[in-house]
Amino acid sequence: MIMKTMRATQKKRIFTFLYLIQCVVINLLANNMYLVETQNTVMVFSGKIDGKFLLQYFGSKPGDVLQIEKSGIGLKTEAYPTFGIECTEEKALQATHIDGNLSTDLYLKSVDFTTLENNVTLTKVSLYDNKYPFFVTLYYKAYIKEDVIETWSEISHKEKGNVILTKYASFFMPISTYNPWTTHFHGAWAGEFDIIEEKLERGMKTIKNHEGVRNTLTDNPSVIISFNGQATEEEGELIAGTLAWTGNYKISMDVSQKNRVNLKAGINEEESQLILKKNEVFKTPEFIFTYSDQGKGKASRNIHKWARNYGVMGGDKARMILLNSWEGVKVNITEAKMLSMIDDISALGGELFVMDDGWFGNKYPRMNDKTSLGDWVVDSAKLPNGLQPLVKRATEKGIKFGIWLEPEMMNIKSELFEKHPEWVIQQPNREIGLGRQMTMDLSNPKVQDYIYHVINNLLIENPEIAYIKWDANHHINNVGSEWLPANEQSSLYIEYHKGLQKIFQRIRESHPDLVMQACASGGGRVSYGYLKYFQEFWLSDNTDALRKLYMQWGASHFFPALTMASHVSVSPNLLTGRVIPLKFRVDLSMTGRLGIEMQPKDLNSEEWTFVKKAIENYKTIRPVVQFGDLYRLVSPYDKSDIASLMYVSEKQDHAVLYAFNLSDYLTYRIPALKLKGLDPKKSYKIIEINAETSESTNPLNNKVFKGEFLMDAGIQIVMKKAFQSVIFELIEIQ
Ligand code: DGJ
Repeated sequence: MIMKTMRATQKKRIFTFLYLIQCVVINLLANNMYLVETQNTVMVFSGKIDGKFLLQYFGSKPGDVLQIEKSGIGLKTEAYPTFGIECTEEKALQATHIDGNLSTDLYLKSVDFTTLENNVTLTKVSLYDNKYPFFVTLYYKAYIKEDVIETWSEISHKEKGNVILTKYASFFMPISTYNPWTTHFHGAWAGEFDIIEEKLERGMKTIKNHEGVRNTLTDNPSVIISFNGQATEEEGELIAGTLAWTGNYKISMDVSQKNRVNLKAGINEEESQLILKKNEVFKTPEFIFTYSDQGKGKASRNIHKWARNYGVMGGDKARMILLNSWEGVKVNITEAKMLSMIDDISALGGELFVMDDGWFGNKYPRMNDKTSLGDWVVDSAKLPNGLQPLVKRATEKGIKFGIWLEPEMMNIKSELFEKHPEWVIQQPNREIGLGRQMTMDLSNPKVQDYIYHVINNLLIENPEIAYIKWDANHHINNVGSEWLPANEQSSLYIEYHKGLQKIFQRIRESHPDLVMQACASGGGRVSYGYLKYFQEFWLSDNTDALRKLYMQWGASHFFPALTMASHVSVSPNLLTGRVIPLKFRVDLSMTGRLGIEMQPKDLNSEEWTFVKKAIENYKTIRPVVQFGDLYRLVSPYDKSDIASLMYVSEKQDHAVLYAFNLSDYLTYRIPALKLKGLDPKKSYKIIEINAETSESTNPLNNKVFKGEFLMDAGIQIVMKKAFQSVIFELIEIQ
């Protein structure tokens, strides 16, 4: 009943908000001004029909926006600047028209404003060139409650031939400010999502990818620009944005004039000159951004909320606790091992078992990573009775079954390559690239069809399969397509991803409830381009809990906990050799989507009991972790010897606090840890979970505090030994 009333009040508020927007819009129209508004922010544009369409302002709502004109603060920059007439700065678009003219000059045709649903508005801005039949439509989708705007453009023409696009950004915004800083996320295989924070000096800072397949294995297509010095978690004015694309991207921050940063984001056009045919509409990927004047924490929470409500497949559904076979058995799969892993994860209280790489290939069994990709048939030596005994056992044990696939790839040693060598990305007149594996030409509809049917058939034959881990462990080399005509070879990088997305769409149409994980050599596909179709991503092949803490910290700036698979693996870690206590490894994985990535048989009985209890605890805190608001309290990047974060439920009646000791031995007393996001007036009882002993001996256990005290004064965390950690649940008591 209370929920219902709350929802009704919220609905009413949004209706009133939308009504007010309509009124304001009518008023502004008279002044040739247009607003794209969310609850706390506004983008202000101006332009007369047949005149230039200008961006004037983006930031917090300044009251009467009509005062922008007389204040002189208006940016007065074209919302989508084009190359050719005025050429001194970075541009969003560059086109070569059929007569060879390099210039495009856009004018406003119309602005249409629609309310799509309660909380979402769409502003469509139609622009045209005054000398060529060339058109650009800009879209701004505003998510009111979340304070997030999503933007993209559509480019088309009616010229008598092909227009060549050499620049076609999704987003362009000048930021006029002193002392701009950027936060971005660099990485490499096994070391993804490293936070880099740097001052934007004059010149161009570019974050990009051109490897074709794993577009986030190095840098992530997400940036924060803080306007006046480094932003903290709670302070600082900034814009945070991320590109929802699955392929090569480029984000540039060009400090071309003193105190002005041109932020531009889109597909990386360096390798992808685009041939646009008459009447063809090219849609750029979406750029999703938010503004915060309360630091990075608020920006992350805005993006997380948007993600759960709109940006992620099944963003409102709790994620299952799983066991993945990879680190436990690698490719050495047998029926007996799989059955015992199914039994074990079920006995531990888990909800899903995922059989990773190694189960397929009959003529060429998958004994290592150089064979079998493409042959998606069960290896009858390893699994003589097929998948059925496994899915049956999972069902009997009350858990779901999942399977690993790497659908875009082919090994030379495969039946598929013997049949279809032309399906591999390759160039005529050059040797085929004989690496570990080859990437298939997804621009070819026959290849798309093949991949779709492999997956669809597998799911039809085994309707119990509830989860697919979709891997991709290679890039594009020997760039060339047997399918695309000679004059369209430069479109391959883009056509590959259009093909890939067509496959995703078809799978989603036929299997909407299937859970899919995006994986690519670890964290090669951590982007909203994938999360439209996938429920979660694999962050890294490096499962060392210490390294993972840093990577998850970085990823948490843009991606909510429910999308972040975080698995407990063995110690010493298989990759780094680091020894980390089980509790620390489990506690850390409980900050994301909890999973296990080891042979449960390797747990001794004490460890087994601990993991079992932790899984039970995770089920209790899961709604808060997966759907609550994240507060990053102490960053490991600040070299403070500890890291701490918390999640708070929307109603502020339940929270989970984590602290991790990163020092060898803490010789000093940890400063009071001040909590965030609680209701100052509410009382919270602290309960330690995952305690080292069966009954918690922590002095804070069972103590009750007012939210106000916890946030203003804080609590004393006691951790001394290397890799000690603690989790507290905070429960509201009346
Ligand atoms: C790379 C992935 O990141 C791993 O988790 C694992 O699935 C292997 N591929 C299997 O080949």
